[in-house]
This record gives sequence, C-alpha cells and structure tokens, in this order.
Amino acid sequence: MTRLGINIDHIATIRNARGSTHPDPLLAAKKVINSGANSVTIHLREDRRHIKDSDVFKICKEKKILVNLEISLNSKILKIALRNQPNFICLVPENRKEITTEGGLNLSKNKNKIKKIISQFKKKNIRTSLFINPTIKDIKLAKKLDTDCIELHTGKISNLVKANKNFYRELVMIKKCCKLASLIGLEVHAGHGLDYKTTKILKKIKQIEEFNIGHFIIGESIFYGLDKTIKTFKKIIK
Ligand code: PXP
Repeated sequence: MTRLGINIDHIATIRNARGSTHPDPLLAAKKVINSGANSVTIHLREDRRHIKDSDVFKICKEKKILVNLEISLNSKILKIALRNQPNFICLVPENRKEITTEGGLNLSKNKNKIKKIISQFKKKNIRTSLFINPTIKDIKLAKKLDTDCIELHTGKISNLVKANKNFYRELVMIKKCCKLASLIGLEVHAGHGLDYKTTKILKKIKQIEEFNIGHFIIGESIFYGLDKTIKTFKKIIK
C-alpha cells in the first residue's frame, strides 16, 4: 500500500496568525493519524514561520505518531532535530524569502555536509530522505550520500497540470528517476503541490511508496469542515 504523509505546517500558520494556541498542531497530528494518514510531516524552518520548537517537542513525544521532520542543513536546526528524535527526517533546501520550498537540494554543492548529516541520523536509527528535483544526476548523487530515501519535488508537474499545460516530458522524467532510484535501492517518495488530479497521475508510478501532501489537504479540509462548524454556532446562538 502506498503511504500518505500529511504536512500540517499550515495548521501552525493559522494558529500563529493570532499568536494563540488554536488550532493546535498536536491535535491536528493526532487527528490526521486517526483519519488514516501513515505519518505526519512538520517543517521546522529557520524563521519559525509556522512550526515552533515546542510543536516539534510535543509531536515527537507522541509515540503513536510517525513523525517526518523536514529540516534544512542549518547546524542549530540539526541539533534540535537530533534531540527530538523524530522517526524520519527529510533534508530540504531553505531560502528565507521563499513562500514554500521552491526546489530540491543542491546536492553537488553540499555533498560533504549532507553525507555527514545523514550518517548522524542513521546512527540514531532515524530514516533519512533527501528532497531533490527529478534528475538522473541527483538520483545518482543521492545514492552516493547514503540516504535511505529520496523525495522527488513534484512542484513542476503539479503546476503544469493545474495550468492545463502539457506535462508529458516532466512525467517521463519523473518515471525515469523513480525507476533508477528503486533499482539502486533508494525508497521513492513524492511531494509538493499535489492535489487530487496530480496524485492520480503519479499514483500509477509503482515505485513511489509515499506521498507527502500538505497545502491542498488543509485547504480542502476547510471546505469540508465549514458546514459542521457553522451548524454548531447556529445551534449555540439560536
Ligand atoms: N514535501 C516536502 C519535502 C515539502 O517541503 C513540502 C512543503 O513543505 C511538501 C512535501 C508538501 O507540499 P504541499 O504543501 O505543497 O503539499
């Protein structure tokens, strides 16, 4: 069965908009697992724009929740990740001005650093993953860095699908990358910008073992939850 990891960063974004405690990312983590998600993804960004250190602490303490912690190569963030012992880590690039993770890691530029980080997590039995662009060069490099998994950045194909543009070339590239990665012993994950349509397209690639999806699921859940919340208020003020 292909696994689904849910990124709950945007629950924290909404909470932080009021500097308060609601909605609570820990409660969201428990809910998504109870609803059938296989794991929860949280990204502790250097600017702490959504998930905070205390969220990482509380969520990683929940033994029933498989936690995939996304982190940059920053040494302070790395220490926090090692201290909290998530089940999985995914190394991602981070750029202060970006709205979201805009591309994959620059593996050739950071290879020594990444290799060292991977070995630190492996010593603690934490599954490692590298968020990369779908290129053959990066798949080969990822293998050399001894990661357990790779997560292919699906932002480009998602944008093409949403814009009703031809996505065939990007799909062929993703398929080639998945085949090669699986052949050389890397577990393949995919994520970024996925919605129902793109996920249906990528689901056909049998090497993809895990999808990590955030923004669309949280956005869609607003519509499916509005009805019940409004009805509750109508009852209260009747
Ligand atoms: N995977 C990784 C590595 C990410 O950085 C993100 C975005 O934070 C996602 C998956 C989820 O992307 P989206 O929120 O667009 O579904």
